[in-house]
Amino acid sequence: MPILDIVTFPDPILRRKAARVTKFDDDLKRLAADMGETMYAASGIGLAANQVGVLQQIIVVDVSTGEGNRQFTTFVNPVLSDGEGSEVDEEGCLSVIEYTSTVTRFRKVKLTARNLDGKKIELIAEDRFARVLQHEIDHLHGKLFIDRISALKRGLYKKKLKKILRDRT
Ligand code: NI
Repeated sequence: MPILDIVTFPDPILRRKAARVTKFDDDLKRLAADMGETMYAASGIGLAANQVGVLQQIIVVDVSTGEGNRQFTTFVNPVLSDGEGSEVDEEGCLSVIEYTSTVTRFRKVKLTARNLDGKKIELIAEDRFARVLQHEIDHLHGKLFIDRISALKRGLYKKKLKKILRDRT
């Protein structure tokens, strides 16, 4: 399975909204499988389709820890509701290079989505799982975790990124 290229900030595709999936076919399954491979290759715990340049509402998530047979889950057309509590923790993103920051998120959320066969999924997620879902679903709406930090911190990151990108050329 091919490993896909991960798009990084400030690529404008990360700012676009993904469209709802209407066809639950083999192409969708193939895309999800490639996204899973790509996520593992990059040592990520979640990946949204925007990040591989596809504007469809698909995320893959694997919050399991430890070695062994890792298994990721695909959520199609995911929607969150009933956010409860709040938790502050460190976040990074495969599309935001060389940066992490603390971000405040709901501690608990309800997820409604479809699986790859189009079957409805409903679940309650807490803590780390809830955080990853919020982060990945933000991507589908064109939002990044750096939008949820202070303008000052974001400005410092943009400066740092400019320098990193300049040094690379
Ligand atoms: Ni991300």
